[in-house]
Amino acid sequence: MNVLIAYASQGGTTARIAAHIAERAQAAGHTATVTDLAGSPPPPSDDTDLVVICSAVYHRELHTAVQRFVTALRDALEDRQSALVSVSLAAALDDDDGLAIDDVDAFLDLTGFEPDHLAIVTGAWTPSQWDEATRIAIGTAVWRAGLSFDEDRDLTDLAALDKALARWW
Ligand SMILES: Cc1cc2nc3c(=O)[nH]c(=O)nc-3n(C[C@H](O)[C@H](O)[C@H](O)COP(=O)(O)O)c2cc1C
Repeated sequence: MNVLIAYASQGGTTARIAAHIAERAQAAGHTATVTDLAGSPPPPSDDTDLVVICSAVYHRELHTAVQRFVTALRDALEDRQSALVSVSLAAALDDDDGLAIDDVDAFLDLTGFEPDHLAIVTGAWTPSQWDEATRIAIGTAVWRAGLSFDEDRDLTDLAALDKALARWW
């Protein structure tokens, strides 16, 4: 299977998750290509079997580069298998992923994208990279999840993601 992993990332966490997915695809015997949507890449080639789109959530919305890609290439995505990986801090909340799912649902409604697979994963709390306004804006989610406000922390459960990936190929 030829797998294209297309991602957009402000702080690098989603880029690392995209690289991890590529590594797992290759370990399972598939060909994997990773592309950064910030660079306006070409559409998926005809021999792409599965497109995995990875985006973090910023102020309750997926990355604008991902919105553009999915909207422009909806027909091409419908012609092959597709998956969406949403990366957020809301995914860490003990609310059955309610807030995180709401943000994904809003994205799917907006774009008309209907992925075959969906993974909602927790990203990173990286206050050292963020200004005061950003820390305050997303601090409520951190507090509700019982996390420390001070230290950077990568919160992605890669083992859980790997279990989902194994069902995609
Ligand atoms: C400006 C900004 C806004 C954010 N807004 C949200 C949000 O609305 N909901 C949420 O769950 N996480 C939010 N986050 C947390 C990010 O989704 C999380 O840190 C993610 O790991 C960032 O991925 P990246 O390093 O690939 O950019 C926000 C982060 C930033 C920097």
